[in-house]
Amino acid sequence: MPTQPKALEALTFDERRFAPPEAFRAQANWRDASVYADADRDLEGFWAKHAEDFLWSKRWDTVLDWQVPYAKWFAGGKLNISENCLDRHVRAGLGAKVAYHWEGEPGDTRSVTYAELLDETQRCANALRELGVHTGDRVAIYMPMIPELPVAMLACARIGAPFTVVFGGFSAEALAGRINDSGATVVITADGGYRKGGVVQLKRNTDDALAQTSTVQKVLVYRRTAQEVPWTDGRDVWWHDIVPRQEAHCPPEQLDSEHMLYLLYTSGTTAKPKGIVHTTAGYLVGTATTHKYIFDIKPDDVYWCAADIGWVTGHSYIVFGPLANATTGVMYEGVPDFPDKDRWWRVIEKYKVTILYCAPTAIRTFMKWGSQYPERCDLRSLRLLGSVGEPINPEAWIWYRETIGGSRCPIVDTWWMTETGMILITPLPGITVTKPGSATFPFPGVRADVVDDEGKSVPRGGAGYLVITTPWPAMLRGIYKDDRRYRDTYWSRFPGRFFAGDGAKRDEQGYFWLMGRVDDVMKISGHRISTTEVESSLVSHPKVAEAAVIGREDPITGQAIFAFVTLRGGTDGSDGLSRELREHVVAKIGSIARPKTIMFTPELPKTRSGKIMRRLLRDIANGQPLGDTTTLADATVVEQIRTAGASATED
Ligand code: WTA
Repeated sequence: MPTQPKALEALTFDERRFAPPEAFRAQANWRDASVYADADRDLEGFWAKHAEDFLWSKRWDTVLDWQVPYAKWFAGGKLNISENCLDRHVRAGLGAKVAYHWEGEPGDTRSVTYAELLDETQRCANALRELGVHTGDRVAIYMPMIPELPVAMLACARIGAPFTVVFGGFSAEALAGRINDSGATVVITADGGYRKGGVVQLKRNTDDALAQTSTVQKVLVYRRTAQEVPWTDGRDVWWHDIVPRQEAHCPPEQLDSEHMLYLLYTSGTTAKPKGIVHTTAGYLVGTATTHKYIFDIKPDDVYWCAADIGWVTGHSYIVFGPLANATTGVMYEGVPDFPDKDRWWRVIEKYKVTILYCAPTAIRTFMKWGSQYPERCDLRSLRLLGSVGEPINPEAWIWYRETIGGSRCPIVDTWWMTETGMILITPLPGITVTKPGSATFPFPGVRADVVDDEGKSVPRGGAGYLVITTPWPAMLRGIYKDDRRYRDTYWSRFPGRFFAGDGAKRDEQGYFWLMGRVDDVMKISGHRISTTEVESSLVSHPKVAEAAVIGREDPITGQAIFAFVTLRGGTDGSDGLSRELREHVVAKIGSIARPKTIMFTPELPKTRSGKIMRRLLRDIANGQPLGDTTTLADATVVEQIRTAGASATED
């Protein structure tokens, strides 16, 4: 188990504190710290009480059935999550309320009401049935950020077809891997999507992916860009040819609480992404409850989670949590600097956004661009800010608070993972005194600890590994078709407790400070990428003999990919070859995995048993003094790498 003791020890706490402004506290959904103790006295009762908010066609028999490491929440219950997100609100008279104000990157806009979203979901669900999708069949979704993406997810949920959304920036090969692992029979995609002023080739990539798969029968294609696309008659179907002609009536399938809602693939410590399994009832209760209380959702809020739906943040906090709470959301298709670097602030001004939720990488990028961009726009509608995906450094936290939040908005720094499904560690904006850089405390009804190598709780002031000690409703229910890996990855290190893979420290007041991954997972701009995944794609290039990849600290993206590459037959590297290798990785995984730095080295440092010494490489890449080198098989290697360092190329 590789650890980063240096990083863990180096942390000093930021001692600034910010209490919730009185005006915020007075109106907050939760304003009394007794929620913590109340929930803690009866965890199951706490979650059951929140489960009462939803529509069940059959009430559950037991709140929690916990057979380590598999939990069942609300077992025996029956419900449909799309009915809870749509029909329930329309029946309550909210049909005309806007579900999403959507803005395309080129500037086209649409506002979709709950009634419209329900109609379109039912039509899409009927179309999927016509295409042969049955309850239990898997559907892959590979779409741009357009309203039809949530429609596709909700339509699958309506008929009980587990879906797997593949981020539109992933390559054909990454899509193929996910289709093969999930055994998807239908792919929902678009001709393309707009990004950075250009067009993403979604349909073309889908076709390339399908050449490497055998389970897909039908491809449903939404026309977004009207570009020319390859077409296979009999397999490919245009959305506009089949969806609009369906009846806008499709009774929601009543599903078991534990029916699989979706699979979401995420990087682990091997080259093969893990299919994280999420189910229905606990996920609904967990995402909706956290969304309502952490973001202090009110009926007239305009809430913008600026993530991509291809990541878990989008699943839980653009689609299911917000829709379950009948929230009006904003959805934006493109990048923050198209056509100019003020695009986000224009969106906030235009829709009078009240709550913004985004990643520290974005905040640091905006800081770098300068405050003149937000200052051009009226951001006074904002009342609450959120952060997610990686540790937020205190400087970025303060800038976010002052420049974007006008020093009046509480900040919720929310810690969670694809595996947790819902936020687990976070401030409550009307209660918690925040400290810049700390995600503060576990949400009510959640129990977490920081433990040492032996699994013993570390006293306040100390650092160790973050574990979650009791089950929570939106937790993963396994890794798809891989029970062994599920047990090994999360439950074997500290038996009975969920091992997150994050380092953490608690200060004297018990605040949690998250300190990054302790495994071979990198966080590049908040995206999870495994070092081995990038290494194996580099090694698949015919000129590469060996590769070692590490995450180098980066002021904007948190970490950046640094690749040490040894070429076959002693060939020398060149700028041209670095470019070729970068493109190779992009083709294999996607542009999020493009190595920022490539260093060609004659050898990699190894132990006598042949294990690559990543710790040394990390020190070299970060320009730090080298730790212990006595276990090196060949002590001259480090010198050779240092000399080669002069020829490292930056992207
Ligand atoms: C990191 C994203 C510090 C962490 C929702 C975790 C964070 C990984 C925070 C999961 C935060 C997420 N502070 N670190 N507020 N939020 N992380 O699966 O390392 O893409 O293990 O889920 O992101 O990444 P994932």
